[in-house]
Amino acid sequence: MFQYAILANPGHNRIYFDTAVKIACSELKAILDSMGLTVTEVTEKEIGLPAALVFESEQELNEAQLTRISASSIYYAIFQVVEGGLLKPLQPTPFNTFPESMSQILRYTGKTNEQFTRLMVNLGLSAAATNSEQKCLMDPMCGKGTTLYEGLIQGLDVMGVEINAKWVQETQTFIVKYMKNGRFKHKVTKEKRTGAGGKKVADGFALQAAHSKEAFANDQAQSMKLYAADTRIINQIVKKNSCDVMVSDLPYGVQHGSKNAKDTKMARSPLELLEEALPAWKQVLKPKGAIVLSFNEFTLKWKQLAELFESQGFKVMDEEPYIGYLHRVDQSINRNIFIAVKP
Ligand SMILES: C[S@@+](CC[C@H](N)C(=O)[O-])C[C@H]1O[C@@H](n2cnc3c(N)ncnc32)[C@H](O)[C@@H]1O
Repeated sequence: MFQYAILANPGHNRIYFDTAVKIACSELKAILDSMGLTVTEVTEKEIGLPAALVFESEQELNEAQLTRISASSIYYAIFQVVEGGLLKPLQPTPFNTFPESMSQILRYTGKTNEQFTRLMVNLGLSAAATNSEQKCLMDPMCGKGTTLYEGLIQGLDVMGVEINAKWVQETQTFIVKYMKNGRFKHKVTKEKRTGAGGKKVADGFALQAAHSKEAFANDQAQSMKLYAADTRIINQIVKKNSCDVMVSDLPYGVQHGSKNAKDTKMARSPLELLEEALPAWKQVLKPKGAIVLSFNEFTLKWKQLAELFESQGFKVMDEEPYIGYLHRVDQSINRNIFIAVKP
């Protein structure tokens, strides 16, 4: 047996740290399972490091597996535990194309924690079995883009839809500035989506960008597409069967509930919104693609989501390591994660 220890990233929000380590054990299990690795349980263990996740594997981990593990949300460093309990540092090839700062720079009310977002993206990538060479990640309610940045960092193509046009504009401004400041080769195009009768349904923005000039020249640029629109009509904006993974932090009904009574679109409960959006989401997701949602258990229950997704023909991921993510964020938010796969 080969034993490995992952040193937990101390940069996690302090209040959230203990929970983050616990749920990261399940995330890691999902990542390892999806690579077909047979491992013992992943547990938090005292081995002389401040906080470590430990597991044993029948096979020695190869370079690609180490790299994939290093993309897990809790990762800071990985060691092989050798004879006498000594820790041998391993150096995985970096998993990221763009710098991790991309999702860390912006700070705003309503932002989804970037490590938590990474955890959701990893669960989606692990649950999906689409076999696409270049995977596409979509956030159908993307706020100011944390999921999209996390996807770009991991080398994915990304798409986002957000009803708040001001946030879409700010996301666009930020990403273009980021590419310019980092001297990343990129190209921006405006897009307009029209529906039946040529009526405009959304304004959009498309970015092609690569971490190196060579990658850009060799057609290895990643794409980001962003639309200011209502998520319930994404099937009129995005091609059918075009994304592998959908990840979204649902409006919690706390700070995103609209104070403006006229704005009924945003004032709806998360469940009502989902009931109306899911048929459109299903169309744009590829077969065997996965949806990962985080939500507030005070306003929506995991069981309600399971019933809704089952009624619309999804396979609900109701076994470990895809369940057991409930944790307290603050007095008004008890956050949980729900995962389902399109048949
Ligand atoms: C919890 S926030 C997402 C935050 C995002 N993950 C981030 O870090 O920036 C939920 C988002 O859903 C958006 N939203 C609510 N109803 C929507 C709808 N019908 N269509 C599209 N977006 C919607 C809200 O405007 C809000 O930005």
